[in-house]
Amino acid sequence: MSPAFTQLYILILCCSYTVSAVDEAFLTDPPDYIKECQIADKNFINCSTQSIQQLFDKLNDGIPGLNSIKSFDPFYLNRIRITQGNSNAINLKVELANVKINGFGHTNVLESIVYPKDYSWKTTFMLPEMKLQGDYSLFGRILLIPLNGHGEVFLEAENMTVIMHSKTRLYEKGGFTFYNVTNCRVDFKIDGLKSYFSNLFNGNKQLEDSTNKFFNDNWRMLADALYTVITQTIEDILLDVLKKIFHYIPANFFINDIPTSKQLYGGSKGTGAEARRPK
Ligand SMILES: *[C@@H]1O[C@H](CO)[C@@H](O)[C@H](O)[C@H]1NC(C)=O
Ligand SMILES: *[C@@H]1O[C@H](CO)[C@@H](O)[C@H](O)[C@H]1NC(C)=O
Ligand SMILES: *[C@@H]1O[C@H](CO)[C@@H](O)[C@H](O)[C@H]1NC(C)=O
Repeated sequence: MSPAFTQLYILILCCSYTVSAVDEAFLTDPPDYIKECQIADKNFINCSTQSIQQLFDKLNDGIPGLNSIKSFDPFYLNRIRITQGNSNAINLKVELANVKINGFGHTNVLESIVYPKDYSWKTTFMLPEMKLQGDYSLFGRILLIPLNGHGEVFLEAENMTVIMHSKTRLYEKGGFTFYNVTNCRVDFKIDGLKSYFSNLFNGNKQLEDSTNKFFNDNWRMLADALYTVITQTIEDILLDVLKKIFHYIPANFFINDIPTSKQLYGGSKGTGAEARRPK
């Protein structure tokens, strides 16, 4: 190699490294807060459940080096708009702003399934207490009551069991396989829901109080009426957080026998023998 060529080569190496360090820094050593599992192991679900529990626990005080997740509990959302189409003309339009959610820090992971067919996930977890507060504006009907107002909202859900279905696409970076979490859909059930909406009827305090009481007395019906609002809020949060985590931590650190994207989607016939951790 001529000296000039060597110099050029070093220059290119240096610059491409800088770009990747700024734009997409990622972990290259397995951290001690992640339990490594093997998907071929018959106890995989048990192992994976513990591994994801440890990840949630770590999120609480922050994953070192991952600065894009500023805070997990409380979690802040700027704005969320939801239009919920019910039967016929009955529509509910809700907008939430300056939302603060407490409770994700006490997540109990009940089951973490990873499907080897496409590396999608089904994760079940429980939040003993989830509190949401923020500014609302809403237009439409809840439990047949016509509403058109804005003010502050407080929701407090008890024992919220969430089933999350996540879709992923594997890709490679720096010799590791990563998850690109592309979709997140949740279902939930709860044991109780307390709610309070301020200024529901433009200052008519008597109507506001009786409506808030009615919502609390009929919390199951209220939870059903707000189902889309609640699931979409949780989906927005989880998709954002999961994308950031899994672009940062290689999937190999969770599942050490994960295939490469080529082996999974085709392009090369993996026998399994070379499907071990790269490098
Ligand atoms: C599953 O994990 C728990 C620890 O969380 C352990 O006590 C239990 O024995 C494991 N079950 C199996 C079948 O390995
Ligand atoms: C992840 O998937 C999204 C589409 O959902 C795509 O726009 C993006 O480029 C993908 N990122 C990587 C690193 O593959
Ligand atoms: C929530 O779950 C706990 C533990 O299972 C239980 O003791 C409590 O009664 C539940 N809360 C409600 C409102 O059902």
